[in-house]
Amino acid sequence: MTDTLNDIALAMVEDGQGILAADESTGTIKKRFDQIGLANEEENRRAYREMLFTTDEAMKQYISGVILFDETLRQSTKDGRRFADVIRDAGAVPGIKVDKSAKELAGFPGEKITEGLDGLRERLQEYHGLGARFAKWRAVIDIADGLPTRGALAANAHALARYAALCQENGIVPIVEPEVVMDGPNASHDIDRCYDVTELTLNMVFDELYAQRVDLPGMILKPNMVVPGQHGPKADAQTVAEMTLKVLKATVPPAVPGIAFLSGGQSDEAATEHLAIMNKIGGLPWKLTFSYGRALQQAAIKAWGGKPENVAAAQSAFTHRARMNSRAATGIWRPEDEREAA
Ligand code: 13P
Repeated sequence: MTDTLNDIALAMVEDGQGILAADESTGTIKKRFDQIGLANEEENRRAYREMLFTTDEAMKQYISGVILFDETLRQSTKDGRRFADVIRDAGAVPGIKVDKSAKELAGFPGEKITEGLDGLRERLQEYHGLGARFAKWRAVIDIADGLPTRGALAANAHALARYAALCQENGIVPIVEPEVVMDGPNASHDIDRCYDVTELTLNMVFDELYAQRVDLPGMILKPNMVVPGQHGPKADAQTVAEMTLKVLKATVPPAVPGIAFLSGGQSDEAATEHLAIMNKIGGLPWKLTFSYGRALQQAAIKAWGGKPENVAAAQSAFTHRARMNSRAATGIWRPEDEREAA
């Protein structure tokens, strides 16, 4: 029997599990490899992803889905098993980033529009054939004086909704990701400003999803948490959790099965703690979990350092973070858990 979009979405937010965002483009993974002094070559990118996807405990117990980049969906382990099959055999859903990244928006200095709608139907059909069952599209919303504008928000919300409708037409669950960024060029705003911009963004996105006839039970929302800009006045973890829940309750219909946060530049532990507090508060109409890139991978990539002899150490670093976030997804994580042996 074929899974419905809602079946797939529910599997992506299964209790105590979350999504590994390993969809760094070739340009973004270069930034990560630069930190460990590793050349950005296809074989290194493949070896790094093999290390992650063959981490048994993490993949089987804590990870419900993996977002891949186009190149990665076409790659295999050293012994010839396609990554999509490795992920599926571990009980997780393979997914694919389909946007073509954020470019300058004409007429709106300092603002971006995510591209990639042209030819998307055909690409989705191919990705489905390669095993992908969900997709991701990220809109980038920067906060600065007078920004974002309604014009830029409307363009991004419309593109997200057109993308989501095309995914569903092709049997693929869309992850709808409107990211109000915390580490943009300015990033000195406070948490209240992040709240207001996130509220406006999510309202405009859900208006467009409705207008484009997107089926809410067949999608996942991937939002930012409500946090101050990187250089803005700090906020404590309880405040972040409460304000994030407040904005989500005000804007996200209960028909959406799950919300999987991005980490967005938060420290590994902050991303875990915020998610844990929200789930501890509980009583929510949707599942609340993680779809972290940096906050799941940072420790692992450092431990790996591009060396085959470090694969086991890297896999235990990845397992540790995945386990911590799994506990956060059910609200049972405590700060002292961080000291557990990896
Ligand atoms: P971060 O968790 O590093 O923000 O990445 C998640 C992601 O997929 C961004 O698009």
